[in-house]
Amino acid sequence: MTKEDFLKAVPEALEATDVPELPVTRGKVRDVYDLGDRLLLVATDRLSAFDRVLGRVPYRGQILNRLSAWWFAATRDLIENHLIAVPDPNLSLVEKARPLPVEVVVRGYITGTTKTSLWKLYQAGERRPYGVPLPEGLRKNDPLPEPILTPTTKATGPGGRDERLTREEILARGLVPQALWERIEAAALALFRRGQALAERAGFLLVDTKYEFGLVGDRLILIDELHTPDSSRYWSRASYRRGEPEHFDKEYLRLWYAERGFTGEGTPPPLPPELAAELAWRYARVFEGLTGEPFRPAPGPQRARVERAIREVAGG
Ligand SMILES: Nc1ncnc2c1ncn2[C@@H]1O[C@H](COP(=O)(O)OP(=O)(O)OP(=O)(O)O)[C@@H](O)[C@H]1O
Ligand SMILES: [Mg+2]
Repeated sequence: MTKEDFLKAVPEALEATDVPELPVTRGKVRDVYDLGDRLLLVATDRLSAFDRVLGRVPYRGQILNRLSAWWFAATRDLIENHLIAVPDPNLSLVEKARPLPVEVVVRGYITGTTKTSLWKLYQAGERRPYGVPLPEGLRKNDPLPEPILTPTTKATGPGGRDERLTREEILARGLVPQALWERIEAAALALFRRGQALAERAGFLLVDTKYEFGLVGDRLILIDELHTPDSSRYWSRASYRRGEPEHFDKEYLRLWYAERGFTGEGTPPPLPPELAAELAWRYARVFEGLTGEPFRPAPGPQRARVERAIREVAGG
């Protein structure tokens, strides 16, 4: 699909689903239907940035949902995950878990533009921002000597902000028991190394990412989404070290807004259709590079198709 094709699809982007007979909760970007011991996650085309929903990106939902499923399959040997089936390109049927209250962020490079980014903290002189020592002399976008964990709390409710955590705080506050946290650390680093290796083969650098883990009984599983350009930063390999890297993730949007004077304070200007199409096109590049398949949108009007699929899964 060309950028022009994505632009034409903007008006039909999937805002939300409505299946009133089923219990639903809405996250910023996903509608979550509760089926008892399973959840049906609907990846919509809503785009969140600056802690709010900014607009819609055509086919964002199906590209990211399918890519996440691809990554779950490509990492199943490292850790169990929640995915049971993908009954529609926008849907994931998953095991319902008790989410652990920590967002497990892993970083391979020192970068970012916001006040709380690792690069800005380092520039401001911090050398142990998450309790992890960083060497002197790093420049923006340098690889870290080893990938590091920079966990945060999982903010709940509108306007909730993720708060930085160290390993010691996670244990002292009893957010996760020690033996479990050690398994999570090992799993996160193994996932990230696999992610970097597979991304490189596809012409990308996996810069950083966020994992969520949950418990089903006492089984630890990986939940939420995996290595999508929404939960991760991707740079093109070819552009690395030729100035600012080419962004294939939400950083592209943040920079676009920053160039127009918006850096997160107050109300952002609306998402222009051209920018929505550009982002979709970039997400499709990551999908195609990794899966080796051309991206073709699922046929039919999205909302009717997805709602039909939701009813089928819930009824069956
Ligand atoms: N297997 C699972 N079991 C339980 N909860 C899950 C599972 N997988 C994902 N979730 C949760 O479902 C929600 C997905 O919704 P979404 O990503 O739209 O929300 P968000 O914007 O990240 O956060 P919020 O829900 O606070 O708005 C997340 O809160 C995520 O933690
Ligand atoms: Mg989320």
